[in-house]
Amino acid sequence: MKFASFALPLLAFASSVAAQATFITLPTAGTQVSKGSNITVQITKKDSMMGSIEVGLVLSFQYCGTSSPCPSATNQLGDILYIGKLDAPFHDTPGEPYENITVTIPDYSFEDPAPAQIIETRFHLIGAGPAAILETNTVAVQLVD
Ligand SMILES: *[C@@H]1O[C@H](CO)[C@@H](O)[C@H](O)[C@H]1NC(C)=O
Ligand SMILES: *[C@@H]1O[C@H](CO)[C@@H](O)[C@H](O)[C@H]1NC(C)=O
Repeated sequence: MKFASFALPLLAFASSVAAQATFITLPTAGTQVSKGSNITVQITKKDSMMGSIEVGLVLSFQYCGTSSPCPSATNQLGDILYIGKLDAPFHDTPGEPYENITVTIPDYSFEDPAPAQIIETRFHLIGAGPAAILETNTVAVQLVD
C-alpha cells in the first residue's frame, strides 16, 4: 500500500504544475516573421488560485534550417532575444493574465526552407516546498526576408 501514499502527492503535484503552466499565445504557429523585425511575443498564464514565484524567463529564436524536426529546444536555445522575469497581470475581463514582450528577430542570412521556432524557457517556484520548475514551450514560425 506504499504506492497509494506516494501516488496521491505526486498527482497533486502534477496537477499544480499544469495549473501554473504558461503558453505562447502570440505569434501563432506558422506565422511568417521577417528577419530584423520587431514582433510581440505574448505569454499567457493559466488563471490559478495558487501563486507561483517567477524566477526567470528567456525568449530565444532557433533557426532550424534543413534539420527536420527542429533541434531540441531544451539543448539548443538558439539566439537569445530576451532575458527577464515573467510579469503577467490581468488586462481584460474575462481573460487570462498575459505579458506582451517585444523582441527583435535576428538579422542573419539564411537559406530556404526557413523553418524556425521561438522558444520560451521559464523558471519558477510553486507550492509550499517550494518546487523548482523549468518549463519549455515552443511555437513554430517561418523566417522570411
Ligand atoms: C525595433 O525596436 C528597437 C527598440 O525599440 C528599435 O530601436 C528599432 O528601430 C526597431 N526596429 C524596427 C525594424 O522597427
Ligand atoms: C498585447 O499585444 C496584442 C497584439 O499586439 C494586443 O492586441 C494587445 O492589446 C496587447 N496588450 C497590451 C496590454 O498591450
